[in-house]
Amino acid sequence: MTENADRDNASFFARGWVVASPMLERFGLFRARRRLVAGLSGTVLEVGAGSGVTFEHYPPEVTRVVAVEPDPHLRAHARRRAARVAGEGARMSIEVVDAVAEALPLADGEADAVVFGLVLCTVPDVPAALAEARRVLRRGPQDCPGAQERPGAQERPGAEDRPGGEIRVLEHVRAPGRLGRFTDRIAPAWGHVGGGCRPNQDTEALLAEAGFDVAALQTRPFPPMVPLMPMLTGASRPLGTYAP
Ligand SMILES: C[S@@+](CC[C@H](N)C(=O)[O-])C[C@H]1O[C@@H](n2cnc3c(N)ncnc32)[C@H](O)[C@@H]1O
Repeated sequence: MTENADRDNASFFARGWVVASPMLERFGLFRARRRLVAGLSGTVLEVGAGSGVTFEHYPPEVTRVVAVEPDPHLRAHARRRAARVAGEGARMSIEVVDAVAEALPLADGEADAVVFGLVLCTVPDVPAALAEARRVLRRGPQDCPGAQERPGAQERPGAEDRPGGEIRVLEHVRAPGRLGRFTDRIAPAWGHVGGGCRPNQDTEALLAEAGFDVAALQTRPFPPMVPLMPMLTGASRPLGTYAP
């Protein structure tokens, strides 16, 4: 496929997504999004924010959202939604930025959390995106070896005593059994009309390969009444020391 055809398909998908996603909200996504960001605080980087449907769900402890969205149509919607959320009295700032998951617009360790909602299925280079998430996440005690042993560290707990930043995920993943085999077959056509979405991706394996702790992630049926696409959901922190 040519680059132009790729761009046309992506823009076709973006227009469709603005219309279709409110329907999905009614089929359980609304609640799933609220759970996705519950308990977060500080600076959050949201990857592939789409039309900004998650903005209204951030708790008041979140002070700053940097929302990355490469598609111009969706970005325009997200900016309008950010303005609306601000107009409704939210205290957090929301910046909607033209950037991609593979090159995030934050400094090392600047984010308290990175949010992936229905986006890792579409990002072309998932390992690069997860490496970027790791880079921008706040460092944890495992990244400051010896900090606890420094004189006075016990009496003066510092930033290095807090756990490091976390990622939150809400990602549809390959179903087991016949449904999974069916999505394997339709994946090329699905990607063509779905903005590059891979319906059969094993996102949990990709997270584990990228060094994230997947033990607490859950896979829930979605939509709850007619489970067609299992959703991988929850919070995860990087394992081991950060090594760029
Ligand atoms: C299915 S939509 C989901 C949008 C939004 N997160 C939501 O839940 O409604 C997938 C999103 O991924 C974005 N996307 C695609 N490639 C990307 C990349 N390399 N980096 C960041 N976002 C990307 C698309 O522009 C689109 O907004």
